[in-house]
Amino acid sequence: MTGRIIGTGSYSPELVWDNNKLAEMVETSDEWIRERTGIARRHIEKEKSASEMAVEAAKKAMESCKEIKAEDLGAIIVCSIAQEEVLPSVSCQVQAAIGATNAFCFDLKAACSGFVFAYNTCIAYMNMGLIKNALIVGVEKLSSITDWTDRSSCILFGDGAGAAVITACEEEGAMMMRCEGSRGEVLTCPAGSTLIMNGQEVFKFAVRSVPEAILEVMSQKMLAKEDVDYYILHQANKRIVESVAKRLGEPMEKFPMNIDEYGNTSSASIPLLVDELYRSGKLPQGSRLIMAGFGAGLSWGASYVTV
Ligand code: COA
Repeated sequence: MTGRIIGTGSYSPELVWDNNKLAEMVETSDEWIRERTGIARRHIEKEKSASEMAVEAAKKAMESCKEIKAEDLGAIIVCSIAQEEVLPSVSCQVQAAIGATNAFCFDLKAACSGFVFAYNTCIAYMNMGLIKNALIVGVEKLSSITDWTDRSSCILFGDGAGAAVITACEEEGAMMMRCEGSRGEVLTCPAGSTLIMNGQEVFKFAVRSVPEAILEVMSQKMLAKEDVDYYILHQANKRIVESVAKRLGEPMEKFPMNIDEYGNTSSASIPLLVDELYRSGKLPQGSRLIMAGFGAGLSWGASYVTV
């Protein structure tokens, strides 16, 4: 069994900080940031809580979904590393806001792999016959855990939320998830502190693990390159995406990106990108995608999904 995307939504804060704004805060430049990361701007949330952002994205996803109503959702999973409240879970707040009375809800923390891990979790429940439809939301207020004096990391991150409604479909699925907890020190955020990252190590890890993950999913389902319409990668760095494309021997057109506009929004980056493509008509029914996430943990994973 695999999942089919039947609705998408996103929320992006109105406040935009471009690279020149960051150059006023730390010693950097628009040219350096664009060249090394592909990022031009990021959106920063100053008003809403993460739950409110998640609700906005979830409402839009349900509005765009013509096939099911909120009561038809069997599960809501929200992934986040940067949210304010401990309780109740963001997913329960989303449930209340959209009236998904029949859904069980929980939050999942797998950093930038969050959306892929949540999707794979939903597919597992679908395979067990527990649910037929699910809503997955990735939401991050990374600006609240960013060290705005550290030029090697603050240039990367942004805030946002993305959501997708998934329904079970009989086609055989393919997925993988891995973690290497022994290398957790590469990207940390101690309690009450800010993100601390060894950028070069994350970079090396990503360009090695992501192609492996994608190839594993393709081989599980015996997919040839021409069977995949798009590879939807976590938007961490344009150079990481380019390197993955090169390693897979695939053209850049199959790797859509929006990192220039949003920066790295962790678990929100994949659904933000999917929503953009879905709404612009670039994902007609029958499209076949491979999503891949990677990040802190270390954690990484990939999954096959249709539209
Ligand atoms: N502006 C200007 N110079 C900067 C800078 C900035 N914002 N940040 C670092 N530099 C400097 C460094 O101090 C270094 O100077 P030096 O050579 O005099 O020591 C030089 O630029 C190169 O630094 P380096 O760390 O080697 O750059 P890089 O090419 O590896 O790019 C990252 C840095 C962070 C952009 C890159 O490593 C990266 O994107 N890594 C992945 C991070 C990531 O995706 N994290 C999230 C995980 S999901």
